[in-house]
Amino acid sequence: MPQTTAESPVRRQRAQLRVRTLRTDRWWLAPAASFTGILAFLIYGFWAMFDPSYYAAPYIAPFASPCLATSCPEGATFLGWTPVGDWFGLSPSLLILAFPAGFRFTCYYYRKAYYRSYWLSPPACAVQEPHKKYTGETRFPLIMQNIHRYFFYVAAIIGLILFYDAILAFRDADGNWGHVGLGSIILLVNAILILAYTFGCHSCRHITAGRLNNFSKHPLRYKLWTFVSKLNARHQQFAWASLFSIMIADFYVRLVAKGIINFPFA
Ligand code: FES
Repeated sequence: MPQTTAESPVRRQRAQLRVRTLRTDRWWLAPAASFTGILAFLIYGFWAMFDPSYYAAPYIAPFASPCLATSCPEGATFLGWTPVGDWFGLSPSLLILAFPAGFRFTCYYYRKAYYRSYWLSPPACAVQEPHKKYTGETRFPLIMQNIHRYFFYVAAIIGLILFYDAILAFRDADGNWGHVGLGSIILLVNAILILAYTFGCHSCRHITAGRLNNFSKHPLRYKLWTFVSKLNARHQQFAWASLFSIMIADFYVRLVAKGIINFPFA
């Protein structure tokens, strides 16, 4: 740690450069890709929230699951559970999407991605940002990002329900097991990616092994932590893979529900 003396004051300001960056590589590619991917997700999610074609037995669109309103078609509900009644006649997706969206919005990785690509704070390492002040996440509204750990619990439940939906997708429309359609495979791959993203969460890693002084007395938690840590090491990759897989799976089910793709190949 350098000492501060009257003769040699430590400069705490950032380096004052005349140019925006000295980087010569294509540093803007990553923020541009993040910007585009997140924007596509927001536009698609907004459309899906209001689209009524979210169920085609045995498939339910992931953005509408769990379907908790009495307006949900028979077979689309989770074990027949409709705790919100008719949900004021609103789309059931409106009720559920806030939780996975909040989980992603407050995710440590996505925060980095959109702080760089949307807020340019900074757009990349060693690239000057346009903002004069930096207050981090220590005050309102960004201090609210700490809510992420609570979103994790809801997202974990929703992820497991999506996996359950994917298993049910291996039945035919009459409920007989053995159906294998493209939709069954797409929903299963999506559910696995969603679970890999969700359980690789930094909060989950803390839940498995936080506040432990040693692992030797907690072998089960050590195993869980080891597994979660492996997922966590690929968190960025799972974040993007699951972002696209959920859009593909959701759109596919809606195409089937609209009759654009037909059984038995669906
Ligand atoms: Fe990304 Fe929790 S840190 S989901």
